Amino acid sequence: MLKIGIIGFGRMGRLYAEELVKNPLWDLAYICDTCAEARKAAADIAPAAVFTENENILFEDPEVQVVGLFALADSRPTQLYKALQTGKHVLAEKPLADNVRTEWELAEAVKRSNLMVSVNMFNRNAWYHQTIIDFIRTGEIGELAIVRIAHMTPGHMPQEGHEPEGPAFHDCGMHYVDVARWYADSEYAAFHAQGIRMWSYEDPWWIQVHGTFQNGVVFDITQGFVYGHMAKKQTHNCYVDIIGTKGIARMTHNFKTATVEMHGVTQTIVKTDEFKDKKVDIMIDVFARSILSGRNLGYPTVEDSVIASDMAWKMFDDAVKNGSPCIGSPEEMEEILRRRRTMTQGYGLPLWKVINENGKNAS
Ligand SMILES: NC(=O)c1ccc[n+]([C@@H]2O[C@H](COP(=O)([O-])OP(=O)(O)OC[C@H]3O[C@@H](n4cnc5c(N)ncnc54)[C@H](O)[C@@H]3O)[C@@H](O)[C@H]2O)c1
Repeated sequence: MLKIGIIGFGRMGRLYAEELVKNPLWDLAYICDTCAEARKAAADIAPAAVFTENENILFEDPEVQVVGLFALADSRPTQLYKALQTGKHVLAEKPLADNVRTEWELAEAVKRSNLMVSVNMFNRNAWYHQTIIDFIRTGEIGELAIVRIAHMTPGHMPQEGHEPEGPAFHDCGMHYVDVARWYADSEYAAFHAQGIRMWSYEDPWWIQVHGTFQNGVVFDITQGFVYGHMAKKQTHNCYVDIIGTKGIARMTHNFKTATVEMHGVTQTIVKTDEFKDKKVDIMIDVFARSILSGRNLGYPTVEDSVIASDMAWKMFDDAVKNGSPCIGSPEEMEEILRRRRTMTQGYGLPLWKVINENGKNAS
């Protein structure tokens, strides 16, 4: 068993803890969070763990082989350096830091170490993307030409936390910047971004970017947490749409199941299976087996996450530079925030508020 201590027991930390206690390869020894309420909630999930607000206790325990860094991006760099100094492998949330320069410095430090560090670019553990990528590689859609991705939900709002992670296109959009690059199997070459400052908020909260990769594949990515927050019945629009010279492959999901439809030259395949939210069960399993075997068996890398973060900031800056108009009013934003404070089911609701008011996590 690998002894692990985790820092940050919010929405993500909780998901990790739930999976770590289930997986026989892991011994969840410490849970650190600066919030007393979080530590109290953690005791329900991992009663055998030590709960602390002092992260140094984890780093000072020589038996801890792995640390999980699941707090916010501003505290991650110090924690990651401490892990490298004390010889511990790291399972980290994204982004690695609250600025790109520090992220690249961290990536260099990781390269110089002989430790394993993975960042949770969760799409890379998704069966639906892996299925489509395998299909593309068989040649069934001819030559890959166009990658189209959308992720729009009535999700995380300004003022609901995650400030160190940046605005929606960085906080969440970096995942889709990574997915497009993964499909294209090439580096970004050129792009143009358009945003909108919904509710006249200072940052664009919806951005669409299109452009090319170095190998000639073209892409568009649309990300926004602006998709009908006040709708009586909320919905979302999330897809990938992959177009080749001869065929196509696409995926949609409803956060419960995902459906892949692949129309190749000799095969038509339609498959629906569980969506599995953040795929944390797969992430921790692959990472544990990688540490035990001494090689990366498929976990997402630091470099992929830093490239995605770097490009997402650049695309966000381009949307600002290109003039993101204001639509709507701060009053509308307040109305949405008020509604979300009373919601028990919804997209990306802040965790502790939900626990406080309802005695359980409904996010
Ligand atoms: N991979 C994904 O799909 C995905 C999805 C959501 C969030 N995230 C990332 O996961 C991280 C956590 O997000 P979340 O939604 O769980 O946030 P959250 O606000 O729900 O939880 C963060 C927790 O960290 C604690 N914390 C903050 N600073 C700390 C410190 N210095 N030491 C110890 N505890 C500290 C807070 O008290 C809180 O309980 C963020 O970096 C976010 O970007 C990733």
